[in-house]
Amino acid sequence: MLSYFLPPRIEFGDGTIQNLGEHVKAFDGKKPLLVSDAGVINAGLLAKAIDALEAVGLAHATYSDIEPNPTDISITHGVEAYKAEVCDVVIAVGGGSVMDAAKALRLLTTHEPPLEPYYADVGGIERIQDDMPPLICVPTTAGTGSEVSQGAIITDTSLQTTDRWRKRAIVTPFNMADVALLDPGITLGMPPALTAATGMDAITHGIEAYVATKYHPIAEGVALQALKMLSTNIRQVYHHGVDVVARGEMLLGSCMAAFSFQKGLGAVHSLAHQLSTDAPIPHGVANAILLPPVMEFNFSHASEKYAEVARALGINTTGMDSDEAGHAAIDKIREFNVELNMPAGLGAAGLDRKKIPKLAADAMLDHCHKFNPRECTEADMNALFEASF
Ligand SMILES: [Fe+2]
Repeated sequence: MLSYFLPPRIEFGDGTIQNLGEHVKAFDGKKPLLVSDAGVINAGLLAKAIDALEAVGLAHATYSDIEPNPTDISITHGVEAYKAEVCDVVIAVGGGSVMDAAKALRLLTTHEPPLEPYYADVGGIERIQDDMPPLICVPTTAGTGSEVSQGAIITDTSLQTTDRWRKRAIVTPFNMADVALLDPGITLGMPPALTAATGMDAITHGIEAYVATKYHPIAEGVALQALKMLSTNIRQVYHHGVDVVARGEMLLGSCMAAFSFQKGLGAVHSLAHQLSTDAPIPHGVANAILLPPVMEFNFSHASEKYAEVARALGINTTGMDSDEAGHAAIDKIREFNVELNMPAGLGAAGLDRKKIPKLAADAMLDHCHKFNPRECTEADMNALFEASF
């Protein structure tokens, strides 16, 4: 028997952030905690959320001490802020780090701290109850789709499982936002490099989900449509960021790709999760670099599916057999990486090669590769880091 979870509510359109206060009231909320970060505040985006709350006379508190790759420490401080301010709703305004932090701190408002027993790798899903306050997500980037994903990626500083800080996941269907407000207008100011990195993260979600091993035909269909929308628009938003229609397609496409990865992700994410804590490589950049070598590695186990991916990426595969079409998909990802000015490899992106063996060992502890179409060993992980270097 299988259980599929669909996102509760997605509101899409330019200006939807203005409805934020009404959504809080619909949950009978009196004082939401706004979770955000310095970048979002400096871009003037948190102010839009605050305006929307004040327009309907709602009190609010803000916790904005979220760093990129949020740690369990900042989650603990966020929970303290929620309790001290006597809040009753959590609103995340930001990218993946902010939304993941909001999910984790919301968990600890009703579950006994620390986070340790709730991580996916120690069976945390069994310990998480559906008794948390409402969560409203307003993504300010088009990439992680964290608003509808079941995971929250947290940097664990406790050193309980490894001798370095490590990214770990908290996974539960209750992590999906009760309301996701997708407002392309607030993504217009995203700089090109961030647009490219987050967009390639979304494309990686679609591809890894589509070939992941879980049986989930709903997610497969959504992944292909997401890839169509993302591949059609990623160049446009990189070169012409003010195109609100293309921004909207990217925002909805990234949301759909994230929904689809409840089917599973793959080796790219297990490898990439090791890089943001030990190398200065943003998640989306790491994915973009790792994706072609991982697709080559998987090819013997996924060529038919990569041929479908090629068609979703807009390639005319008439006259190609499935091997040729599958390889055309990999070539297309390499073309995107060149056009979007991604670094040529992990070395160029800033990885110290000496760290690879340890990172490969830790990648094996990450849950994502369990759904990779080809089984991965530690030696494979090492070889994939080397091939991407
Ligand atoms: Fe990702």
